[in-house]
Amino acid sequence: MKLSCHAAGFLDVADEVLALFCCQGDQPTGDTLEKIDILTDGDLGEMFKSGEFNGASGTDIMLRRVPEMAAKRVILAGLGDKDKTGPDAYRQAAGRVGKMIMRHKAKSVSFYYDGPDVASVAAAVVEGLVLGSYRFLQYKTDKDKERDKIESLSFVVPQRGRLRQAEAGMLQGDLVSSAVVQGRDLAGMPGNDLYPESFAGIAQNLAKKYKFKCRVLGPAEIKKQRMGALEAVGKGSDRKPHFVVLEYHGHPKDKPIVLVGKGITFDSGGISLKPGLGMEEMKGDMSGAAVMMMVLATVARLGAKVNLVALLPLAENMPSGGASRPGDIITSRAGQTIEIISTDAEGRLILADALDYADTFNPQAVIDIATLTGAALYILGYAGAPFVGTNQKLNDGLRAAAERTGEKIWELPLWNEFAEQMKSPVADLKNSGGKPSGTLAASSFLKKFVKDWPWAHIDIAYCDVEPSGKPYVPKGPTGFGIRLLVDLLCHWKKL
Ligand code: BES
Ligand code: MN
Ligand code: ZN
Repeated sequence: MKLSCHAAGFLDVADEVLALFCCQGDQPTGDTLEKIDILTDGDLGEMFKSGEFNGASGTDIMLRRVPEMAAKRVILAGLGDKDKTGPDAYRQAAGRVGKMIMRHKAKSVSFYYDGPDVASVAAAVVEGLVLGSYRFLQYKTDKDKERDKIESLSFVVPQRGRLRQAEAGMLQGDLVSSAVVQGRDLAGMPGNDLYPESFAGIAQNLAKKYKFKCRVLGPAEIKKQRMGALEAVGKGSDRKPHFVVLEYHGHPKDKPIVLVGKGITFDSGGISLKPGLGMEEMKGDMSGAAVMMMVLATVARLGAKVNLVALLPLAENMPSGGASRPGDIITSRAGQTIEIISTDAEGRLILADALDYADTFNPQAVIDIATLTGAALYILGYAGAPFVGTNQKLNDGLRAAAERTGEKIWELPLWNEFAEQMKSPVADLKNSGGKPSGTLAASSFLKKFVKDWPWAHIDIAYCDVEPSGKPYVPKGPTGFGIRLLVDLLCHWKKL
């Protein structure tokens, strides 16, 4: 999609579609809508009065051939209540506009915006349109697959003086949304093409392209590092585990923030085999690793003033004669022994070794993200991700980023009861404490590998895939967490 911005009056935008934002009310307000009301001979005012269209959030209307307007079609996109309108209202509106213009076979759209916070609105519009029109087509051979693609987006402001802000916002929106697109693409890739070694290769290419450091530990180095938990998870597969270390230096002396992402390229459950129905969805069990890789790449592209490390433990969880068994006792990198109750509770095992390795970077803070527990579905459903954290300021930073990005998270308590659940009669820990409070039992397990640095853990199980489709999140992989964490790191304040 070609992105551009320019200054013009809304009457003079000669595009296939001109989109305008509209707040809810009992009559059209503001210079633009009042003028359109006059040009349509009072039609717009009547619609507001009758309630046919009144700017309510989630509602839009398309007008054709408005007299004196150069655009062929005009879309009015509802933002809802004026006082509650944040960037996410614009993101959603742009997502809906994208769907509408694809339905009408238009290829080009201009958004006209005459209001405050130009940069953040421009970023939100780019994100909404790019992410809302996303489709996963890599594996379709149909020649017509690019058919409905939107080719160009312009952001139009009334005065030249606002162009700089608009341009900066569009660039930010462009970098962030292309990261989310790539994150979604990776999550959609099947296990036969995306496995630990090929994932590591993708990380290396990305590092070369965007100029950050990338080191890949192969099976031999994983053994040398005594990452016994990661090894145990990968043992059953012919595709051997890899461990990717990415580094970005954007600050001369601050300690790094270490990001950890679960990278199970396929989770069959192992010997504790999952039911067959829906098992294909477990190709997305590397979403955490994809998120953290794209977050680091995007922060590097934006040149934010932070130091970052991303740790991506990568393995495939498969059953075979060489696989780990329930009852096995393994030794993690930290030296703690773990009794494997379920080979399907593999995420916490690979994260345990990665969290322990994080300490070697003397981190300022550590954040991990993982499709960790099916039980997360029974906490917040598909609406948001549960998280735990050990530092008030870090938690507050995450909440503020969630507010700005619309990627919802909610903090849960790390009570002692949950840690009790993970005690084993024969080893230091066991990897499954049964069904009750599964998400927090897993979180408490991870906490055993956390040192005294601030730590937060986000469980994105089920948030990684959208079941039905939202304005800027089509059905399928969501890339949830990328926008949240890029935003957090761009607003980072030392803890
Ligand atoms: N990758 C799954 C969690 C998951 C399930 C993510 C569904 C997304 C959708 C994880 O490895 C897993 O299997 N967890 C088990 C843990 C249990 C055995 C303690 C679970 O949640 O059932
Ligand atoms: Mn599993
Ligand atoms: Zn898993």
